[in-house]
Amino acid sequence: MSTQSTIVAFLIGTIAIVSLMKSDCLALKEDEKGIKLCVTSRRGMKDLSHKSLTEVPSNLPNETQYLDISYNSIQRLTGAPFSRLSQLCFLKVTHCGLQEISPSVFSHTPALKVLNISYNDLPIIPDISLKHLKILDLANNLYNSYRIPASFQNLTNLHVLSLGSRAALSVNYNDFDLLMNVSLHHLVLGAGINWQKYDSGALAKFKSLQRISLFASFCRDFGMFENVLVDLNVTGATSLRFITVFPDNCNVSGNPFKSLTTMPFIQNLTIENMWINSSFMEAFLKNVWLSSLYDLSFVNITYNEDTLDGFQFRTINHTINLCSITFNGVNHYQYKYPTINMSFEAISNLTYLKFSGTGMNILPCNAISALPSLETLDLSDNLLTDSGFWWFQCSYTSVFPKLRQLSLSKNRFISLSFISEKTYQMKTLESLDLSFNSISLDGNCSWPAHLTDLSLGNNNLGNSVFQYLSPNFERIDLSKTGITAITQEDLSQFPKLTHLKLSSNSIQVIPTDLMAPALLSLHVDQNAITSISKEVLAGLPRLQTLKAGSNPFVCSCDSHWFVTNLNKSLLPDWPLDYTCSTPPSFAGLSLSEYKTSELSCETWLQATVTLPVVVVISAAIGLVFYKCDGVWYTKMLWVWIRVKKRGKKHSNMLNNVSYSYHAFISYSHQDAGWVDSQLVPSMEDSGFSLCVHERDFVPGDWIIDNIIKCVESSYKTLFVLSKHFVQSEWCNYELFFAQHRAISVQQDCLVFILLEPITAESLPKRFLRLRSLLRQQTYLEWPKDERKQQVFWASLKSMLHMADKSMVLKDVALAISDTVPLVTDQV
Ligand SMILES: *[C@@H]1O[C@H](CO)[C@@H](O)[C@H](O)[C@H]1NC(C)=O
Ligand SMILES: *[C@@H]1O[C@H](CO)[C@@H](O)[C@H](O)[C@H]1NC(C)=O
Ligand SMILES: *[C@@H]1O[C@H](CO)[C@@H](O)[C@H](O)[C@H]1NC(C)=O
Ligand SMILES: *[C@@H]1O[C@H](CO)[C@@H](O)[C@H](O)[C@H]1NC(C)=O
Ligand SMILES: *[C@@H]1O[C@H](CO)[C@@H](O)[C@H](O)[C@H]1NC(C)=O
Ligand SMILES: *[C@@H]1O[C@H](CO)[C@@H](O)[C@H](O)[C@H]1NC(C)=O
Ligand SMILES: *[C@@H]1O[C@H](CO)[C@@H](O)[C@H](O)[C@H]1NC(C)=O
Ligand SMILES: *[C@@H]1O[C@H](CO)[C@@H](O)[C@H](O)[C@H]1NC(C)=O
Ligand SMILES: *[C@@H]1O[C@H](CO)[C@@H](O)[C@H](O)[C@H]1NC(C)=O
Ligand SMILES: *[C@@H]1O[C@H](CO)[C@@H](O)[C@H](O)[C@H]1NC(C)=O
Ligand SMILES: *[C@@H]1O[C@H](CO)[C@@H](O)[C@H](O)[C@H]1NC(C)=O
Ligand SMILES: *[C@@H]1O[C@H](CO)[C@@H](O)[C@H](O)[C@H]1NC(C)=O
Repeated sequence: MSTQSTIVAFLIGTIAIVSLMKSDCLALKEDEKGIKLCVTSRRGMKDLSHKSLTEVPSNLPNETQYLDISYNSIQRLTGAPFSRLSQLCFLKVTHCGLQEISPSVFSHTPALKVLNISYNDLPIIPDISLKHLKILDLANNLYNSYRIPASFQNLTNLHVLSLGSRAALSVNYNDFDLLMNVSLHHLVLGAGINWQKYDSGALAKFKSLQRISLFASFCRDFGMFENVLVDLNVTGATSLRFITVFPDNCNVSGNPFKSLTTMPFIQNLTIENMWINSSFMEAFLKNVWLSSLYDLSFVNITYNEDTLDGFQFRTINHTINLCSITFNGVNHYQYKYPTINMSFEAISNLTYLKFSGTGMNILPCNAISALPSLETLDLSDNLLTDSGFWWFQCSYTSVFPKLRQLSLSKNRFISLSFISEKTYQMKTLESLDLSFNSISLDGNCSWPAHLTDLSLGNNNLGNSVFQYLSPNFERIDLSKTGITAITQEDLSQFPKLTHLKLSSNSIQVIPTDLMAPALLSLHVDQNAITSISKEVLAGLPRLQTLKAGSNPFVCSCDSHWFVTNLNKSLLPDWPLDYTCSTPPSFAGLSLSEYKTSELSCETWLQATVTLPVVVVISAAIGLVFYKCDGVWYTKMLWVWIRVKKRGKKHSNMLNNVSYSYHAFISYSHQDAGWVDSQLVPSMEDSGFSLCVHERDFVPGDWIIDNIIKCVESSYKTLFVLSKHFVQSEWCNYELFFAQHRAISVQQDCLVFILLEPITAESLPKRFLRLRSLLRQQTYLEWPKDERKQQVFWASLKSMLHMADKSMVLKDVALAISDTVPLVTDQV
């Protein structure tokens, strides 16, 4: 361990107000918790806030589970409007000037779990006796005492209680007696004012508290604050949060936090909304370093250097438990870099460090990047840029020796290629968060193999982003990045992918050929997806989480499988976020309530119903049919129809193209007999020019090159398929397809002739492409019967005839006429 290595670190300081949108976000988060606890259907949610109501509407539907009537002017809550709301679970009535609540309200609503009546004018703590209540917020009212009413003994499930009144100036010894046997988990107490009296022992009544948030000021009497700490020690609370505990105008003297050193249970400490002088910081941190704390946070603080040489901290002779420090929102009183001179040892065991909302624009890299135990560094919400984080003055000799997670979210980073190159310096980095920046795809990116988790959310990137990522990535976050479509090709680049977030994009379809064998979690919520089919899930065998809510689902048979058969435990946001968007008659209906008729959607059911009829008829027809080789002729007819149809579609497109050959013929040596004796004579006699590999290949060229040349100068490619061909030749074509994706995509130019029956299913699995081609493409079967052979030739010729005179140019044909003597005026 290094002895007295001294660090002088700089943090950029500005007096500028670091805007903290915290309180709003927190309230939203709290409400979301309540929704999760209470709501099973969107129809059960009623938000009547900001509606200028003067009383609770009496016509609320009896299925209401969630009711928010905040920001109205409702002074009394009476029982009547609640009489039918037996399912009400979440009730929020804040900022209403509420003065009175009739006890009958709660006798009608026995299912209530969350009650938020904060920010009102309640003159007394109301009687509440609800067995299921979990969260009760009574903060910011006008009661003048914290004495708990007797009815609260019945709140046996109460988990979180928030109490606070600007009129309650003292805390008396017996105030919390009746909560003694309630297994409260988290207590929030106070309204941010100075207490005039605190009776020692009052808070010690709580027996099972784990967290306490104290929102009270103690400027005039630091002794009172120490008494509070002693009582909190008795409750055994592990997590303490002090909000505005010393107001800005307070001259803090002495060492009010010295009890910290003898509080064995405390693990987490948060100091919020406080002015902190460097002299106080020195004394405070000395207590912290001697305490059992392992997690320390400063939230919304103003930092001021009142000591000449900044923050100085000598080494201490004690084991340090602290391993996590958070700064979230720091206003700097002086317009200069703070000076920090502290023993390296004091932070050598730190594993987590967060500097957020501090206005930092240059990383004090020599200090931070040398922390030997640091595993997580969060620098979100600052003013860092590419060159401010990788600062030219940093000597990167041993940077971040153990860093695994780095968050650079909400900064001003721009260049992905630059960042990707720099990540090679951080030898242990696994996770990098670049969300909410101005990232652009400015060049090739190369990522180190140890980096497996990348977030690029909320940057404007587009569909090409996948090409800039690493095949080693296991977790990718591309939420809100402007993606409009994903393909199997995009995903096939990430064989180890387990978590993929694509929320808030404009994706319309999840391709059915998606194959991501390792994927555990997929987020595609808030896109433009209308349905999710069974085939999609088939390609994701290990999927455990699928978040797909807030999409414009179509309520038709397309959604039948999703609604009825999909295992809903996969969907964390089911059923709340799933609603029908079309057809208009179903718009707004919850998908979980959409009933499709099984008969109209399930093909197998339709089949069972119609089967008996069909069987009889088809048996009769089939018998006749079979006798006359109907199957074979039908197949041929089908091929013929498809060829004609396709020909129409493509003739315009192909008009400008010219070819040297009508067809390139690919076959196995074993089938050369048939090709030489049947195929070539028959076709060339009819005036078609063929490229046959033994005859037309340029000697000496690599076989694949020859194939490519021939294919490119031919209108169609005929594959003479037999078991021999598949076993001996197909590999060449796999290679060829791999090289020439573009051609294989235009599958129209492939014609398959089956010399002997081969079904797609009988092919070995590794011939994936051939299997799918055979399933999709029409193919011609060589019949043994001579009569049928006439039809076969006619079909084949008609396929090649699509290349009519305009395509095989006469001069080209003439130029090669010495190798293909049969090209004549017929062309
Ligand atoms: C109650 O509502 C207020 C105002 O919206 C909010 O700040 C607070 O967090 C809510 N309390 C709980 C426990 O949700
Ligand atoms: C709600 O009211 C309807 C009739 O208005 C009734 O059919 C239904 O059972 C009620 N539901 C509950 C949960 O009370
Ligand atoms: C507690 O609830 C029971 C019935 O649930 C009731 O009889 C009793 O009066 C309640 N106690 C208080 C103090 O309200
Ligand atoms: C709490 O429980 C203890 C023991 O079970 C009992 O003596 C005490 O009276 C109870 N207190 C209240 C307020 O119910
Ligand atoms: C906290 O409680 C422990 C025993 O549980 C005791 O040793 C210690 O002195 C107490 N600290 C304070 C500040 O009261
Ligand atoms: C911080 O120091 C200034 C003097 O630089 C003093 O006026 C102020 O009261 C101190 N604030 C606190 C909270 O100690
Ligand atoms: C703060 O209080 C201490 C002692 O209580 C006193 O010596 C010091 O001058 C005060 N500082 C200010 C700025 O009031
Ligand atoms: C206490 O700190 C630990 C480590 O940072 C954290 O995981 C935990 O959630 C915190 N607990 C509370 C109650 O804040
Ligand atoms: C931040 O703290 C100051 C007091 O130091 C307080 O006036 C202000 O309201 C706090 N801001 C927020 C967003 O809590
Ligand atoms: C840092 O502190 C040490 C003593 O711990 C002292 O010798 C040194 O001069 C200080 N450096 C600065 C720049 O204040
Ligand atoms: C540090 O602690 C050890 C034993 O706990 C003691 O021997 C030594 O004198 C202490 N050093 C200082 C500078 O306090
Ligand atoms: C850091 O942790 C190690 C092992 O957990 C411990 O031996 C060492 O004393 C700690 N360092 C400090 C400065 O507390």
